[in-house]
Amino acid sequence: MKFFLDSAKVDEIAYALDAFDIDGVTTNPRHVQVAGKPFMTVIREIADLVAGTDKTISVEVNPHIMDTAAMIAEARKLAALSPNFVIKLQCVEPAFKAISVLAAEGIRVNCTLIFSAMQALQAMRSGAFYVSPFIGWKETNAEETRSFVEDIVAIRDNYGFGTEVLVAAVRNARQIVDAAVAGADIVTAGLAVYTEGFDHPYTRDGIQKFIGFWDQTRYE
Ligand code: E4P
Repeated sequence: MKFFLDSAKVDEIAYALDAFDIDGVTTNPRHVQVAGKPFMTVIREIADLVAGTDKTISVEVNPHIMDTAAMIAEARKLAALSPNFVIKLQCVEPAFKAISVLAAEGIRVNCTLIFSAMQALQAMRSGAFYVSPFIGWKETNAEETRSFVEDIVAIRDNYGFGTEVLVAAVRNARQIVDAAVAGADIVTAGLAVYTEGFDHPYTRDGIQKFIGFWDQTRYE
């Protein structure tokens, strides 16, 4: 399973690339705003970090854009900036034609803001490279998400779509494990979700116990 970092902070991305070899990056308008730099500056800086690798960076088109032609024009412009860019288009009806036109040109689209398996199915039919079901937003509204992801993976497999299922808005390690069990290809989460997930209090307790024994033992 691929681990993507959901962030537009260059220092955080550089750390995650080095520390646990993340496979890619996802950004969105909120992450770019939090990074505190202009959009074009941020995405170019992130592109420099992964240049020469096959790691993808999902870059979101201006969310005001709601018509197919403008989506295509903006996606072409962004895709020309870096071979690592996958273009995020919001899951609205005009995006489906845009996805198919762009896919025919070899421009990869991450269809984002997906909240139903029906939306994912149509994005996959259109030729999306990634579909991004947002599980955290659904769980905030007390919606169950395990079967949501399982359904999308099953649909993808039933019809052999070439799309990767990228589980997004992930808030904790349990959601990552659920996505892995469901057969999702990728999860994207913030740095703290990974670092907290890699940690366990029993591991820390065990280290303290072993240190106690080690200190009472001769080395040679
Ligand atoms: C995914 O590609 C999105 O950027 C992300 O997961 C959205 O989640 P957020 O609510 O953490 O911004």
